[in-house]
Amino acid sequence: MTRAREDSHQVFDRVAEAYDAARPEYPEALYLALEELSGIRLQGARVVDVGAGTGISTRGLLDRGARVVALDRGNRMLARLRARTACETLLADGNTLPFRDGVSDLVTYAQAWHWLDPVLSIAEAVRVVTPEGAVAGWWNSVDAGKADWLAACQVRLADSCEGYTGPALPGWSMPPIAEAMADAGLRVEETWIHWTRGVLLDDFLTDLRSHSYVATLDQEAMENLMIRERAELTKVFGDGRMTVPMRVYLAVGRKAGDRP
Ligand SMILES: C[S@@+](CC[C@H](N)C(=O)[O-])C[C@H]1O[C@@H](n2cnc3c(N)ncnc32)[C@H](O)[C@@H]1O
Repeated sequence: MTRAREDSHQVFDRVAEAYDAARPEYPEALYLALEELSGIRLQGARVVDVGAGTGISTRGLLDRGARVVALDRGNRMLARLRARTACETLLADGNTLPFRDGVSDLVTYAQAWHWLDPVLSIAEAVRVVTPEGAVAGWWNSVDAGKADWLAACQVRLADSCEGYTGPALPGWSMPPIAEAMADAGLRVEETWIHWTRGVLLDDFLTDLRSHSYVATLDQEAMENLMIRERAELTKVFGDGRMTVPMRVYLAVGRKAGDRP
């Protein structure tokens, strides 16, 4: 059974604790690719991180010297971010950015753009970045084609979660941010970054709870899913230490200028 329909920020607010505890960080290679494709050094760059959530992307950007404003519609997600991140935060809608024109070098959507309006959001980002600025979206996801156990896990999730979006769906693809950015007149480049996540089974299950399609199950269905997944995954990782193939899709749209 699935809960009554909620806005995405309400869903994430309900699972903010699990999100904060167990979602993975982004690999170093993602930030290097972001700098390369945008032509912008993160050190000193002004960044608006839209859909900042609990701050995984925000802290990655801050750690590399960026000056970040973290923006989200979810009060509880932002509270988690504030608890361990020193930066300006804004409770606001990413479809109507509360900034003047041209005040930022980068607007980023980490794991977030698919929750926004595809046209309004990019138009706002284009307005807010400088003439040399860029807009970037990325998604960290499991690389199900790399391991049979992971592909099987995704099929089970697709079978039990009505709102499942992921590689087990026929014709599944990444959100069409590259097309949206090109339609808005940006010069777009895309790349994939492959990496491996070492994670404890308990944390992997907590991470699962924070995915919107699991978070929208009712409590009993969610607990049953956790029991089943613990049993299935223990067959593969008897010692509770998992190795999970991952990949990040990154799309960057530049307003102008040539690659350095
Ligand atoms: C999957 S989380 C991504 C969090 C973070 N960027 C990360 O890398 O983990 C998506 C976030 O987008 C936020 N969100 C959804 N719709 C939004 C909107 N219209 N404006 C701003 N944030 C939004 C949700 O509240 C949630 O915190």
